Amino acid sequence: MQIEENKNEEFKPCIVAFCCNWCSYAGADLAGSSRLTYPADVKIIRVPCSCRVNPLFILRAFQRGADGVIICGCHPGDCHYTTGNYYARRRMTLLFGMLDYLGIERERTRVEWVSAAEGAKFAATMSDFIDTVTKLGRNRKLRDLRCKE
Ligand code: FES
Repeated sequence: MQIEENKNEEFKPCIVAFCCNWCSYAGADLAGSSRLTYPADVKIIRVPCSCRVNPLFILRAFQRGADGVIICGCHPGDCHYTTGNYYARRRMTLLFGMLDYLGIERERTRVEWVSAAEGAKFAATMSDFIDTVTKLGRNRKLRDLRCKE
């Protein structure tokens, strides 16, 4: 059974943000403690390093109803585990090419480097990403119809 969408209801995208513990999560924390605002539609998942994000996590997020997925990590050269973000960058490049092949818009996924001191960048990045995904509308590709909305 497919759930009917209320056309009058304002679309609020569901965004999943994987943030590495050492930089981006601290950046998100700084954004919060600095009282910078960004939409509350972002669900942050803390990971030890951006390389911990298995590409299947992203596919699973889309399957479970995400409209956009963003991976945030330390700046290249600053990874707490030295080269983790280089691995993440390569993996995501391959995955994004595959998602493109599957028909998922390229703008629904993003990789950003945000340091612990960049709370303002974190808030601006999230706001920009949400604007982009809102313009794209609801994601219907890969969605598992057995998952409730
Ligand atoms: Fe932040 Fe590796 S610890 S990207």
